[in-house]
Amino acid sequence: MIIEPKIRGFLCTTAHPVGCRASVEEQIRHIRAGGQIAGGPRKALIIGSSTGYGLASRIAAAFGSGAGTLGVGFERPAERGRTASPGWYQTVAFEQAAAKEGLYAKSFNGDAFANEMKAEVVKELKQNLGPVDLFVYSLAAPRRTHPVTGEVYRSTLKPIGQSYTNKTLDFNTGVVSEVTLDAATPEEVEHTVQVMGGEDWEMWVDLLMKEKLLAPGAITVAYSYIGPDVTQPVYRNGTIGTAKDHLEKTAHRLTAKMKPEGGSAYVSVNKALVTQASSAIPFMPLYISILYKVMKEKGIHEGCIEQMNRLFRDRLYAGGKVPTDSEGRIRVDDWEMRDDVQAEVKKFWATVDTEHLGAEADQRGYHTDFLRLFGFGFAGVDYSADVPDELI
Ligand code: NAI
Repeated sequence: MIIEPKIRGFLCTTAHPVGCRASVEEQIRHIRAGGQIAGGPRKALIIGSSTGYGLASRIAAAFGSGAGTLGVGFERPAERGRTASPGWYQTVAFEQAAAKEGLYAKSFNGDAFANEMKAEVVKELKQNLGPVDLFVYSLAAPRRTHPVTGEVYRSTLKPIGQSYTNKTLDFNTGVVSEVTLDAATPEEVEHTVQVMGGEDWEMWVDLLMKEKLLAPGAITVAYSYIGPDVTQPVYRNGTIGTAKDHLEKTAHRLTAKMKPEGGSAYVSVNKALVTQASSAIPFMPLYISILYKVMKEKGIHEGCIEQMNRLFRDRLYAGGKVPTDSEGRIRVDDWEMRDDVQAEVKKFWATVDTEHLGAEADQRGYHTDFLRLFGFGFAGVDYSADVPDELI
């Protein structure tokens, strides 16, 4: 089968297995180039390990520090002539690369919110990997079935209190237009907190502690975002930001619980990047396109793997106290939030329109990165070649 991208809005419904492998290999090379992470993790559990920041964390732990990794993701296998989702192929590629190195690497595909998945992970850790010294929580999910009540919650991306109008970009066509988002209802806010807040992270930590599967001195980290003024109404002050507030508060509670065993919980605030999760957030594609342009021109652009490389080497395992801001958060969004970067982003945001997109935003870079999420656009991959059935 010859596989081409089929884009539907902010989704691509196909994925290229050979390209997804190339993506994993490229990330492994990046981490390897930095050498071994002294004092890095030995055994890691990663929730949300198949794409984006979670996959990059898994690669940093395994190939930067020789860690055995157990990963959980929620991906779609191939069926009836339809390719699998990219995280499926990336997980296969990761496991094969780890096996070549003699590293333990096991992955579960299913719902990390469910008690059944938690029980499976506990069983696997007890039987094979043992207590972990790193627990990464990198879930980005649209819905959650609560494991106790059975209630289904859906997350929304909306402002709170009043509607919000601003520019938005259709990153496929390059058209800049205005969009208005209605204010969320209190129920929508609560539902988003249920999905993207810290309750499930805490459930995982409680269970791992109860089962003695967190090693003494273990670290757990979850990912958050803050961002600039232009995205505040829909992101940080919106439904998703309220969930991130909850996640950040959870980190403090978890640290208190883990302290007697020498452990700590962190939230790392990461850079805005093209991932499947962020493509769905209104205004983000335009902001990210402008940000890419500014950061590339300044020579400080990073992708997920560069971010996780810095998180592991310069923050979590730099030796000594982990540097945090006044709220106790790790900041690897420091370059994104630099005054000179944000001043230029603001300037371009004010004037950007469809006509000036090329000069004021890196829409092409956004589009390229979007396609790469699905394994398209990697050098050395022959996209005109038939992909054998056994790879699909
Ligand atoms: P992503 O969409 O690339 O990855 C999400 C991961 O969660 C995938 O591995 C997916 O399979 C997994 N997943 C989703 N639902 C699941 C479920 N029910 N059970 C098990 N696994 C499930 O997203 P991304 O962007 O890497 O997001 C990860 C975290 O990083 C999120 O908390 C996000 O808010 C945060 N973040 C993202 C930023 C961005 O610009 N992309 C910036 C800063 C933080």
